Amino acid sequence: MKVGVFGTKPYDHTFLDAANAGRHALRYLEPHLTHETVALAGDATAVCTFVNDTLDRPTLAALAAQGMKLVALRCAGFNQVDLAAARDLGIAVARVPGYSPHAIAEHALALILSLDRNIHRAWARVREGNFALDGLLGFNLHGRTVGIVGTGEIGLATAGIMRGFGCEVLAFDPAPNPALTQSGGTYVDLDALLARSDIITLHCPLTPVTRHLIDAAAIAQMKHGVMLINTSRGAVIDTRAVIAGLKSGCIGYLGLDVYEEEGDLFFENLSDQTIQDDVFARLLTFPNVLITGHQAFFTSDAMTAIAATTIANITSFEETGQPLHPVAVERVA
Ligand code: NAI
Repeated sequence: MKVGVFGTKPYDHTFLDAANAGRHALRYLEPHLTHETVALAGDATAVCTFVNDTLDRPTLAALAAQGMKLVALRCAGFNQVDLAAARDLGIAVARVPGYSPHAIAEHALALILSLDRNIHRAWARVREGNFALDGLLGFNLHGRTVGIVGTGEIGLATAGIMRGFGCEVLAFDPAPNPALTQSGGTYVDLDALLARSDIITLHCPLTPVTRHLIDAAAIAQMKHGVMLINTSRGAVIDTRAVIAGLKSGCIGYLGLDVYEEEGDLFFENLSDQTIQDDVFARLLTFPNVLITGHQAFFTSDAMTAIAATTIANITSFEETGQPLHPVAVERVA
């Protein structure tokens, strides 16, 4: 198939070329997919996109008008796709589920340990010849309570890691996973999780229900000084409410790999520009906030798996008219 591959970097080419082995005609495009950039796909019959590409109804309609039959997402989340519009327009949508849950779970752990032991501050201090320990006091993870919101593939992997550290694991998920209980975790309702956890880590998808799940009311229920980690999707958190929580001390540590408005920032080198997003800029001023630019998936293992499944989705669609991992419209509910 001819595929317009949007929003690509050189590292995407490396992994996709290896998985493709010349099977499909991949046209690498640096710009994100938007209504304005659809034409760049030329005569392709499929597009391949990532987390911050736009797949709203107007963009999908433009793709359909150009003869596009398949959107192959090279990610697990699909909140950026208007699935009802894709169905109406006869465009199949494929994703890469569970490509490497450990990559994201281990990144969540990296944020937890770095924040707890102030590694980000210690690194900067030592380089300056400052070996003072004031302000670097941490706490033991052993014996602490970790609340996991969303216990699919990534939440479950995170639970296993935290159990390994000797933490009590509480979890909330409208569709409980027996494996969580078998590994020593305990399901509670969301209110109890928020009230009892020392560390709260988010692993649910972004849906209409989870948008701003962590808002001012949720933060008010949390333990004073709680650690909040988000490697799921930015809009699961109301960023302004979290900033208020940081200012009051209610939130003691914040680790983010995702941000509500990350589409204008992440994956680009903006180091010689002024950040125009004042909310994001405010987050950067807190010493107890650690932000990475949506890199939790970025391990060689995960990239290899993403590329293999993406190509398999495209090949399956070409051969059978169905991708290997379709996203059904019901998933939006
Ligand atoms: P999954 O589909 O295996 O699990 C998601 C779980 O969330 C399910 O068990 C579901 O029942 C649960 N859930 C749904 N609504 C919920 C709610 N209201 N409250 C609590 N739980 C709820 O998905 P997986 O693979 O574990 O990924 C989770 C999310 O992580 C993805 O949707 C994606 O947004 C994000 N992600 C982030 C990456 C990164 O690089 N930062 C990479 C991959 C995924």
